[in-house]
Amino acid sequence: MKDINNYIETHKERFLVELISLLKIPSISADKTYKKEVLLTADFVMEQLKKAGCDDVELCETPGYPIIYGEKKIDKNLPTVLVYGHYDVQPPDPIELWHSPPFEPVIKNTEIHPEGAIFARGACDDKGQMYMHVKALEYMVNTGNLPCNVKFMIEGEEEVGSESLSWFVPRNIEKLKNDVILISDTGMIANNIPSITTGLRGLSYVEVEVTGPNRDLHSGLYGGAVANPITILSKMIASLHDENNRITIPGFYDHVEELSLEERAEMAKAPFNIEEYKDAIKIGDVYGEKDYTTNERNAIRPTLDVNGIWGGYTGEGAKTVIASKAYAKISMRLVPNQDWKRITQLFVDHFKKIAPKAVTVKVNPHHGGQGYVTPTNTIAYQAASKAYQTTFSKTPIPQRSGGSIPIVALFEEHLKSKTILMGFGLNSDAIHSPNEHFGIWNYLKGIETIPYFYKYFTELK
Ligand code: BES
Ligand code: MN
Ligand code: MN
Repeated sequence: MKDINNYIETHKERFLVELISLLKIPSISADKTYKKEVLLTADFVMEQLKKAGCDDVELCETPGYPIIYGEKKIDKNLPTVLVYGHYDVQPPDPIELWHSPPFEPVIKNTEIHPEGAIFARGACDDKGQMYMHVKALEYMVNTGNLPCNVKFMIEGEEEVGSESLSWFVPRNIEKLKNDVILISDTGMIANNIPSITTGLRGLSYVEVEVTGPNRDLHSGLYGGAVANPITILSKMIASLHDENNRITIPGFYDHVEELSLEERAEMAKAPFNIEEYKDAIKIGDVYGEKDYTTNERNAIRPTLDVNGIWGGYTGEGAKTVIASKAYAKISMRLVPNQDWKRITQLFVDHFKKIAPKAVTVKVNPHHGGQGYVTPTNTIAYQAASKAYQTTFSKTPIPQRSGGSIPIVALFEEHLKSKTILMGFGLNSDAIHSPNEHFGIWNYLKGIETIPYFYKYFTELK
């Protein structure tokens, strides 16, 4: 496979041009006004999979956005790698904070990406990372280096909870049969510190509504005499953490997997600089659950966060009013053994219980999913580790991530296979934020590393 570097050198301009075309389509799954664009993106992915050498490519209809499925079978006695990714992206808001329009990709150099980075919504999450797999396949097919069978499954609803994929997977178990699932939709520590993601947190997402009086009231005529739903909601939210920043919902920690001191010591070996961490996001200090380090807080511990809170008058100038209603969106990140449906129920019960009589509370659960941990004592992990050793000349560090890809646990449940998370993004790439970007070096490094995974996995298998 020595020719991989030549192949990339020869074709890299085109690899970038194609990715830029993909990034230009605003496939925002959360916003129904972009339906046409999401569907166009599905078509684009389908065409590119055909061009890259998949023999059978299908657009699979679902109750929601289509799933693009493709495969290249070379020998039924050889193993099969199933690649998963998503072609939908997060909304770009707040749009005014972008330095260039989110769907007009531009290449700029940054301190961390001196070779240049592509700025666009979805550049890293996940169009850029998903497309590395399409280009890796193109290389393997064109040069006779595909060592095993491959299946692709690219969905368009990951950013809104993968509902259609949860419908699709149990209905297509035979079709999706594989020996390992390969995903690039996470990150690594730094360009000179490769890492393999070995864990994802679960998720429970809810929306709450607190209602006081039946209509907005004059805050002079009624102020002081009725409960203000915004004040009550703020108090209720504040009470969800105690003075040690532990979550106060009864039963919340019941099944939390506790890591041994050895495991925690092993985790602490990963390079991490707290001053750089603070400086990168301009905070005066870190904050979180007592007795845990920053890396533990954002990977092996469950959390509860308010994602948005609103109510009352937020327009220009002043309006003296006691709002009838106040709202918040709340997410909980979960760790192995916490069941997301149970946690959602615990939240609903607790939130209703702590509400004073002066208000009524509604809780609407959104989506959720289980966490996931990849074992490192498998052939698949060894193959991934060897692939990084080949292209980075360093052994990658196994590291659990705080993010969630809820569908991964579902894959294991229905397809009985393990997932390898080979992420090439960096935390500083600003996924979900304004000015999301993906390093060109990372993009090409991914394309270079992926074929080695196929090679070593097939050899070891
Ligand atoms: N690719 C991310 C998840 C991710 C990013 C995991 C970086 C680890 C490192 C994915 O697209 C995502 O944003 N997931 C959502 C959950 C989903 C149900 C909306 C998340 O983590 O908030
Ligand atoms: Mn993603
Ligand atoms: Mn995402």
